[in-house]
Amino acid sequence: MKNEQSHRVPTSDDIEVSTYLGIAKELHGEQPAPEAKPLPPEERETIVVIDFGSQYSMLIARRIRECHVYCELVPWDTPWQKIAPLNPRGFVLSGGPASVYNPGAPVALSYVYDKHLPVMGICYGMQVITHQLGGQITPGEKHEYGHAMLYLNTEDCPLFAGLPPSFSVWMSHGDQILNLPKNFKTLAYTDNTPVAAMGSDDGVFGLQFHPEVIHTPMGKTIFQNFVYKVCGCQGNWTSANFITESIEKIKKQVGDGKVICALSGGVDSAVTATLIHRAIGNNLTCIFINNGLLRRQEPERVLNTFLRNLKLNVTYVDASERFLERLKGVTDPEVKRHTIGEEFIKVFEEEAAKLGKVNFLAQGTLYPDVIESSSASETKASATIKSHHNVGGLPAKMKLILIEPLRYLFKDEVREVGMALGLPEDMTWRQPFPGPGLAIRIIGEVTKEKLETLRAADWIVMNEVKKAKLYRQLWQSFAVLTGIKSVGVTGDYRSYGYTIAIRAINSDDAMTAEWTRLPYDLLARISDRIVNEVPDVNRVVYDITSKPPATIEWE
Ligand code: XMP
Repeated sequence: MKNEQSHRVPTSDDIEVSTYLGIAKELHGEQPAPEAKPLPPEERETIVVIDFGSQYSMLIARRIRECHVYCELVPWDTPWQKIAPLNPRGFVLSGGPASVYNPGAPVALSYVYDKHLPVMGICYGMQVITHQLGGQITPGEKHEYGHAMLYLNTEDCPLFAGLPPSFSVWMSHGDQILNLPKNFKTLAYTDNTPVAAMGSDDGVFGLQFHPEVIHTPMGKTIFQNFVYKVCGCQGNWTSANFITESIEKIKKQVGDGKVICALSGGVDSAVTATLIHRAIGNNLTCIFINNGLLRRQEPERVLNTFLRNLKLNVTYVDASERFLERLKGVTDPEVKRHTIGEEFIKVFEEEAAKLGKVNFLAQGTLYPDVIESSSASETKASATIKSHHNVGGLPAKMKLILIEPLRYLFKDEVREVGMALGLPEDMTWRQPFPGPGLAIRIIGEVTKEKLETLRAADWIVMNEVKKAKLYRQLWQSFAVLTGIKSVGVTGDYRSYGYTIAIRAINSDDAMTAEWTRLPYDLLARISDRIVNEVPDVNRVVYDITSKPPATIEWE
């Protein structure tokens, strides 16, 4: 669920560059640069997921991608002209909050049936099929929610090939099927749902349960069966193919043009830059701006990787002093964000101007951002969130065309591509780090001294979490310099020092997060080391709040 009250972005990782560019757009009051048209994915086999608004729609897409089959999630009213270039091999109709008998309830457009491609409807998707093909739905006697045992009626249905006669599934529905459409058979049932799965001989299926959630442990096999056995896909969506295809596309799109890309140290911009570099070599210039708000050794490591290992053309700008100067006296979190964004864009524009004519701007936009920004049901509140944080462009006067090679990838796919491109692990597996950096982890005014204190504490947290082999499992783990000072004793002396808060959370997408139950021993080690090794800190606390109601960052 989106938190409509929040001013924050539900973002996953180093979206910071887009954030800054979005701010630039706002500052200049101009339109984003024109977006380059994606080239047609010629030989691709695509499963098209028709989105009826379920909270699990994106998960369906991820499950299909995990089978190495390309898939796109499109709003239910997307016209065939937009679908045709994708070379669809089958459709999945997602779940959704509506009831098919509600006035104006979304249904599938006629091509879903007319093209005679396989279709798999999930939950509401199944009810849509039933309703449109002449069956009947009824409100279930009770809302079924949670685990249920599914019993198969059939042994030879390709969708259930290789599965046992009964297995556990996750249900979440009110309505259910009363009468099947003509030519459909019941394929499975549960104790409460007589038609838990149905199918026709021409490859149209309906599932009342959710195979996409982890609570349906056999769900993966159902997706594999659907894409391979029912739709006849080959499974050619691999990192290696993606890399080859993207390089070809970038070459065609860019020709002899010049591209700039802002590096942040995160995996998205790193993979973007590396792919483009493979395609066009030194016609790509990367700009890496040190805003003085990075973590210990971060600038050195990023530079080392890109300059020395990957041999990219990187312009390094140490703008720390400029940023710190602008941040003097600033205490409000949103003012901090804006100040940093504005300064970033100024530095970026100055550096870009030095390069002469540049045609393209590369950005590490990911698929979830694309889906978010194209979603039809945006509220006003979320639209304002986006003007600050989402995909934007440099001022139109620069006339840069956006190039976004990752715009169809999920985060885990970006990491895989990063590894296939030979990026170092500490870059591909870096935890998300916010664009405004340590500034939003220091409560109150940001100063050089506070930054040093926080860097030292953060270094210890990262170090110990890595030693405990928990770094990859955690969505984020970091230190916060709270605005609190408290009394302590050091040797025989009274001290009055800072309080550091430790934050460690688990999350799938940063929209919600649960505080992690880190082992006490690990917390003890972190605390001991911080109070012993970091001057001016005499107290360490652990943040045990989930999101919502707290956000992940403290500011
Ligand atoms: P919150 O604190 O809103 O954070 O729960 C959700 C995710 O977004 C990151 N974050 C930001 N990233 N610019 C960014 O690029 C920002 O202003 C910003 N604020 C929060 C945060 O680290 C977490 O991953």
